[in-house]
Amino acid sequence: MFGDIDKCHNFEDFRNLAKKRLPSPIFHYIDGAADDEVTYRRNTEAYNQCDLVPNVLTGAKDIDMSTTVMGQKLNMPIYCAPTALQRLFHHEGEIGVGKAAEKFGTMFGVSSLGTASIEEISKTVSSPKLFQLYVHKDEGLNNYLIEQCQEHNFETMAVTVDSAVGGNRERDFYTGFTIPLNLSLKSIFSFATHPAWAFNYFTKPKWELSNLNKHVSEGTNMMTSVGDYFTKMLDNALDWKKVEAINKKWGKQFAIKGIMSVEDAKKAVDVGATAIMISNHGGRQLDGSRSPFDQLEEIVNAVGDKIDVICEGGIKRGTHILKALSLGAKACSGGRMYLYALAAGGQKGVELALGNLKKEIERDMILMGVSSIKELSKKNLRFR
Ligand SMILES: Cc1cc2nc3c(=O)[nH]c(=O)nc-3n(C[C@H](O)[C@H](O)[C@H](O)COP(=O)(O)O)c2cc1C
Repeated sequence: MFGDIDKCHNFEDFRNLAKKRLPSPIFHYIDGAADDEVTYRRNTEAYNQCDLVPNVLTGAKDIDMSTTVMGQKLNMPIYCAPTALQRLFHHEGEIGVGKAAEKFGTMFGVSSLGTASIEEISKTVSSPKLFQLYVHKDEGLNNYLIEQCQEHNFETMAVTVDSAVGGNRERDFYTGFTIPLNLSLKSIFSFATHPAWAFNYFTKPKWELSNLNKHVSEGTNMMTSVGDYFTKMLDNALDWKKVEAINKKWGKQFAIKGIMSVEDAKKAVDVGATAIMISNHGGRQLDGSRSPFDQLEEIVNAVGDKIDVICEGGIKRGTHILKALSLGAKACSGGRMYLYALAAGGQKGVELALGNLKKEIERDMILMGVSSIKELSKKNLRFR
């Protein structure tokens, strides 16, 4: 059944296969970004504008790529960023991604807009779990989500702060990717020509926004589009005080996701966060903003000794991860690097994608002449 996924050796292979397997509105929801998608492209290009400088004849072997981030030991220095609606991409959804992350001993991020419940994930996935909190206008809902994570032993939480309003994702307008779907004719044709996806979609148990639906009263028209959801449902007046209060209520490892400036990184330290994810939401929010890798060095210089700095977005290759680690990131995280694989082949696809990245990191570390990621430093990098 999985056939072609065994021939996927890298990010682009999985992306191409996901494009074949998914009806186009769904593919473009994953693949697209805001406005002209300049930031989205830059997120990867930034990595390709500096070069690694290897040291040879070091006898590097017994590679140790483990890292500890937010108090969690990860067997590889990249983890799965939280992403919405995973069962729309493949019926195995969050559980499939979580099981794959578990196999590789890495962290698994669960979105507030996830399609499996906090309870179910906690029962099935034993590797470190990060819950991504969108702070809603409805405080009762925020408290409910935090309490669910406490009750079900999630180790870490991240509050996303780059989504006060929805990004302008124009591909979704063209395809009609709204909830409920409002498809263009071309999009309807695309669903009809992807019968395998449609078969699974309609024969597997119906999915829902498992964590929100339990709280939001029935009949509430929660979402017309993901952008609308941000604008209508989220607390657009979220500020540092509220984030600090959420951190206090949570009381465990706490990250702020979507930090891009040194000033904000310092404020994150002040409100007691234990990590920041330098992230522009995969280019899906503010187009024209800088890339996480471009911002990494100055942020690490300012707060790297006080807080775990995670570099997120645009990662396609093991060498991208080694470059971020060389500049002082504790770990990296990525969304599309596993989402295309999920769409292409469910849990097995995600395992292959993580396996490919792991092999790349291992091979690249040997070629760089380092046995442990601790040996990586700025000396390994030259900017052009
Ligand atoms: C399809 C998709 C859905 C996403 N959903 C969420 C979400 O629900 N919450 C969130 O904080 N970030 C979300 N993100 C952003 C990711 O957490 C992450 O920041 C981004 O994917 C990193 O960029 P990359 O895809 O280039 O790795 C989503 C990204 C994608 C591609």
